[in-house]
Amino acid sequence: MTIKATGICKEFIRQGKNTNRFTAVSPTDITIEPGKMYVLMGRSGSGKTTLLNILAGLLTPTSGKVLYDSEDIYALDDDKLSRFRCEHIGVIPQGQTAIHSLNVIENICLSYMLYGSFTEREAAYPAARELMQRLGIAELEKEMPSALSGGELRRMAIARAMLRKPDVIFADEPTCDLDDENTELMLKTLKETAKSGTAVFVVTHEKDAVGYADINLNMSGGVLTIQ
Ligand SMILES: Nc1ncnc2c1ncn2[C@@H]1O[C@H](COP(=O)(O)OP(=O)(O)OP(=O)(O)O)[C@@H](O)[C@H]1O
Ligand SMILES: [Mg+2]
Repeated sequence: MTIKATGICKEFIRQGKNTNRFTAVSPTDITIEPGKMYVLMGRSGSGKTTLLNILAGLLTPTSGKVLYDSEDIYALDDDKLSRFRCEHIGVIPQGQTAIHSLNVIENICLSYMLYGSFTEREAAYPAARELMQRLGIAELEKEMPSALSGGELRRMAIARAMLRKPDVIFADEPTCDLDDENTELMLKTLKETAKSGTAVFVVTHEKDAVGYADINLNMSGGVLTIQ
């Protein structure tokens, strides 16, 4: 699946002395192709998360379109867009996203808990275990999120995003809580995922990520440049 965004931009209203329109993402065109890893870097506040959220179907742009092949995702109603995201898009958001009343494997299988039948959910467990093994959290299957370290929670979020083998994975600072060893493991895992045909779009401050990229991107003051 190829993602083609044209003219996407996002303006926010800023509350201040004077109410101002603030442009977080200036009109941007970008195409994201299967099998490639995109690495987006840029200063804090430059609009990286805003751009990622627009591309991932999580934030309606002020103007512009996002097409997944021929599907104009923001033309879908809310239910259809949720279902589309569930089936095609894996997101590792910035910050923590654990559901604290569910254990680790249930968190990883969350989309099956929301949409799947009991049988589908049970069938997802072996794949979840394989991912946990790969990411070094196999022994934490039955733990509750409150018992996990920041890095373990990140790895749980990554397993959740990868489980359904989505067409595209968006990862917003996936290595921010990880030590050097796990940062390398994470970047290698994302790169292997890209090589297997998934499109991977990573926002990061991690300088080593540049070496893993097929396409390096930079954001400055809401303006995207493709390097
Ligand atoms: N909902 C919102 N309402 C108003 N302003 C917002 C909103 N979301 C983001 N912004 C502003 O848009 C700008 C871009 O934010 P964004 O989260 O995209 O930055 P970022 O590049 O991801 O930064 P960081 O590296 O710190 O995560 C920031 O100045 C932020 O304050
Ligand atoms: Mg951000």
